[in-house]
Formats: sequence, C-alpha cells, structure tokens
Amino acid sequence: DWNPGNVIAEQVERIRAQVGDARVICALSGGVDSSVAAALVQRAVGDQLTCVFVDHGLLRSGEAEQVEKDFVAATGVQLKVVDARERFLHALAGHTDPETKRKIIGREFIRVFEDAAREVVADAGEHGTEVKFLVQGTLYPDVVESGGGEGAANIKSHHNVGGLPDDLQFQLVEPLRALFKDEVRAVGLELGVPEPIVWRQPFPGPGLGIRIIGEVTQERLDVLRAADLIARDELTKAGLDRDIWQCPVVLLADVRSVGVQGDGRTYGHPIVLRPVSSEDAMTADWTRLPYDVLATISTRITNEVPEVNRVVLDVTSKPPGTIEWE
Ligand code: XMP
Repeated sequence: DWNPGNVIAEQVERIRAQVGDARVICALSGGVDSSVAAALVQRAVGDQLTCVFVDHGLLRSGEAEQVEKDFVAATGVQLKVVDARERFLHALAGHTDPETKRKIIGREFIRVFEDAAREVVADAGEHGTEVKFLVQGTLYPDVVESGGGEGAANIKSHHNVGGLPDDLQFQLVEPLRALFKDEVRAVGLELGVPEPIVWRQPFPGPGLGIRIIGEVTQERLDVLRAADLIARDELTKAGLDRDIWQCPVVLLADVRSVGVQGDGRTYGHPIVLRPVSSEDAMTADWTRLPYDVLATISTRITNEVPEVNRVVLDVTSKPPGTIEWE
C-alpha cells in the first residue's frame, strides 16, 4: 500500500546516501513541488541544505511571507532571501512583448540565483565543505514530458531553474521523480509543509509579470495584487479551490473603459477572471462558476480597487486560448 510515511523514509535514506556530508542548495519558488522537495531534503540532511528564495516582486499577496515565515517555521530550513524586486522592475521597464518579458524574467532569475549560489558556496568554503548538489522538484509527469518532446512547452518559453553556469557544477537531487502531484501533496502534508503551500494551485514562474498585459510597473502590480487577492479570497470562501484547476486574474493595463461610480465618470482598467478546469493544463475548459460568486468578486473588486471599473469573464477553452494570457 502506498503511504507518504514510507515514501519519506525511503527518500530520506536515498538522499543521505547520495549527498553524504556535502552541502546542498535549493531554489524555493513558493510552489508545491520545490517546497516539498526542500522539506524532504531538510528532513534527510538538515542544515547541510540552504534554500534560496529569489523575491522577484511578481508573487501574489502573502506568498513571499508564506515562504519566508510559515515555511521556515514549519520545516526549519535554512533560508537565504534575495530581495530582487527593484532589479526585476528595472529590467522589465519599457517591455510589452510577452516572450520578451518571459525571457527577461527567466534571465534575471538565473543571474540572481547564480549569485546567491556563489555566496552559499563561498560561505560553505570557509567551513571546509563544498556545495555539490542542487535540489529540483521534478515530478514523474515532468520526467515523462521531457522525454516525450513537443507540446505546450514549446508554445511559450517556460522558466524554471535550468542552465546554471559551468563553474557551479551541481549534481541533481530529485526526490519527487517517481511521484504524481497528489502524492507530492500527501508527502508535503506528512512533512508538515503549511497547507496554503501544499494546496496552492499552479502559478507560473514569471508570476504576475505575465498577468499584466502591457508594461510591468509597481503601480500595476499593486492593482493586480489587490484584485487577485479578492478573487482568491471569495473562491476560497465559496469552497471552490479544489474544484478549479487555477484562476488567473489578469490586468488589461493598456485598456481603459468608461464607467460611472457615485456621481462621477470613471475611466479605469478591466480585470479579467480566467477560471479553468483541467487535468494536466495541456487542455482546459473554462469553469462554470456560480453567478453569485462571480457577482461578489466583481462588486468587491470594483468597490475596493479604485483603478478598476470593469470585471470580465474569460469563456474560452484551451485550445484555442492558453490558460495564461501571455
Ligand atoms: P498555458 O498558458 O501555456 O499554461 O496554457 C499552462 C500551465 O502552465 C503554467 N505556466 C507556467 N508555469 N513557468 C511555469 O512554471 C512558466 O513560465 C509558465 N507559463 C505558464 C500555467 O499557469 C498553466 O498552469
């Protein structure tokens, strides 16, 4: 019988055998996979592991805190936080093309992570140990997919921690390689990973950067973050989180429409809700959310976020639409 306790016991032994007393590094994104992989490695080798969290400023409300406080408190991992928010904003300034934005975010991420990894190596050097291993939250479907070839992955340039520089030669530790997502969640719960992380819906590496249609600026990020928080809040209250695959909330930053509020005319931006149902994100259907939930989300966003005067629902399946708008 499959049970998470057995998987943990088996992986702890394997990880110990693989890494010995070498140092290990892991890039935490706040997502399920990297968090559970890190928690498992921490369980196996404790402080030999250093996690690096690059705060690119493109996360949703509360997500950086979930990593920096809740995850650390629950697992005891050693965490190095790099505040790269200004750097990402600067790099993204003036860019509106979706693929360009994705490439910039991917490139900056790798650079910041490299620098952090070098620092961890240097610090470890003083104590006479080497960093040799990099933890990756690769799941079984990722293994199958990367052997398989084309598909959605070629339509947009997905960013994950890929090509690292030659002078940082890591061997990979991939303790989730045999697991499916639901199994990873069970292992995470058993390891005490906080529930908001374990149950987090898929969220793209480039984050809110690809949910602002147009140039990414601090002001626009603040608007989108506020709207997204309301949508997530109401979906959770309605008990719908586990019925929906994910619900991107998108800001059409270069579009304005006329509205009326109180005594005055407004000229604000639309927010798009994109709730989808899916098995694997390769295809998806738009989720038929209850009208009263949609109404509450719309009323709250237009009341509470002054820059937004219209909320629209995306009723396109995938294909022809992709799940994200960029
Ligand atoms: P699309 O928009 O291609 O998205 O239908 C399919 C799934 O992938 C997620 N996604 C990403 N995940 N890095 C990621 O880790 C990325 O660059 C990325 N782009 C899209 C998306 O949220 C959906 O679940």
